[in-house]
Amino acid sequence: MIVILDFGSQYTQLIARRVREQKVYCEILPYNASIDVIRGKHPAGVILSGGPSSAVETAGKDDVYEPHPAVFTLGVPVLGVCYGHQIMARMLGGKVKRAPRREFGLSKMTLKSAGDLFVGIEPKFDVWMSHGDEVAALPHGFKTVGATENAPLAAIANTTKRLYGLQFHPEVSHTEHGNDIINNFLFEICGEAPDWQMAGWVARATAEIKVTVGSSKVLLALSGGVDSSVAAVLLHEAIGEQLLAVFVDTGLLKAGETERIRRLFGKRLEDSLITVDASVEFFAALKGITDPEKKRKAIGKTFIEVFEREAKRYQGVGFLAQGTLYTDVIESGRAASGMAHVIKTHHNVGGLPEKLNFKLLEPFKNLFKDEVRLLGKELDIAKEVVGRHPFPGPGFAVRILGEVTRERAHIIAEADAIIDEEIRREGIYDDIWQIFPVLTGAKSVGVVGDQRSYEEVLAIRAVTSVDGMTADWYRMPPSIMANIATRIVNELPNISRVVYDISSKPPATIEWE
Ligand code: XMP
Repeated sequence: MIVILDFGSQYTQLIARRVREQKVYCEILPYNASIDVIRGKHPAGVILSGGPSSAVETAGKDDVYEPHPAVFTLGVPVLGVCYGHQIMARMLGGKVKRAPRREFGLSKMTLKSAGDLFVGIEPKFDVWMSHGDEVAALPHGFKTVGATENAPLAAIANTTKRLYGLQFHPEVSHTEHGNDIINNFLFEICGEAPDWQMAGWVARATAEIKVTVGSSKVLLALSGGVDSSVAAVLLHEAIGEQLLAVFVDTGLLKAGETERIRRLFGKRLEDSLITVDASVEFFAALKGITDPEKKRKAIGKTFIEVFEREAKRYQGVGFLAQGTLYTDVIESGRAASGMAHVIKTHHNVGGLPEKLNFKLLEPFKNLFKDEVRLLGKELDIAKEVVGRHPFPGPGFAVRILGEVTRERAHIIAEADAIIDEEIRREGIYDDIWQIFPVLTGAKSVGVVGDQRSYEEVLAIRAVTSVDGMTADWYRMPPSIMANIATRIVNELPNISRVVYDISSKPPATIEWE
């Protein structure tokens, strides 16, 4: 495995992605991880990430943001990237200084000598830079391998000790040959093999889960989404009937969701699958509420009440399992250095662990989303589950503007089913990140037969996205749009008009509420 020491760069996760894409396992540790912790991982190599601090300003100060110096004498190769390159140079006797010109964006790299990090790479290529400091004098035993116009020591190496520094970011897709450089580091220099496979991961994870859990029972909130579904199947493989996978029907879910869950998981999870119809409680909790934030709170609170009640029915529950991902762990600052700004505080099922006083079991806390999808495939989970569009926890409640009633939830579920059916039939499901109807609460006049009607306007929101952080509206072929709109106004008497949302995120969000 490879250890990545995190100095707080926005690209640290990207380094981990690039390494994992090469089928090499890696973990991100805080920059100041103790040398025993690092040694204990038995890494084949260490990568020092970039970061927001300045190797010039912190020199000689208390808050030096240095890795443990023994990192450089572990006997394994070290690759420093950007700040990692500068801090390595500084610690090993080189000099860093403010660069006369800051570099952000593309620069042309010229290789001075063929080094093992650049095997098979042409002598001139584009690299992505983002720095204000630079290495000004080589540390002892190092050579210059490459330079850009503004950074004469942009690539340095001590090949005897297998220490490498790059001012640019090989992990960023704009850097030409970035993957080749990372491959060279992993395979040529660290001697890794591309053999990190899901099958091996499953065997290790199930063994670990068994030991951790012992004879306790494990409770899991099964939503039917990718993460909780894969977690349920994995846990069932590991501990069988000790798993209690509780699916709560909030009344705000897609049409036929409970039946779908039973069909997809009934056989696989056997008696571990528990379905609870709590829709009466959810609609009661939502009665009279129109404010979006209050809706979310009412749903969260009701969910916890229902779940708590279910949990009390079983003896010996010691753990609550959650499908927390590596991204969530990193974003909440739990794994990494704490130097990167906390982007969001992660609450998978808001408030549950504290309320229930169980220990947390997070089998995916070292996996990325697409790795969970791969794991789903490895565990033979239906594509219908693994390739599913994301669905928000509060369900249709955030897509029904104004008061949420059982009647309106029924209308939106019907419209959603029509959209789903049509886009699957047209073969465009996988081109879209999310698509859904929104009950706008606006009313408009229509004419049905010879009668004037005055019913609700339904909006369709369809977006493409990579991670949900930014999104563009989906350019749906007009014939498919027309078909969906016609079906909705014909089949749902409470809808007078269909409109298509053409806002991108930002500034709009994906959901309307
Ligand atoms: P927004 O609306 O913030 O949505 O652009 C981004 C992604 O997050 C989902 N989303 C939620 N998921 N609970 C969830 O579990 C929520 O309260 C929630 N709000 C938004 C949304 O569906 C999209 O995928």
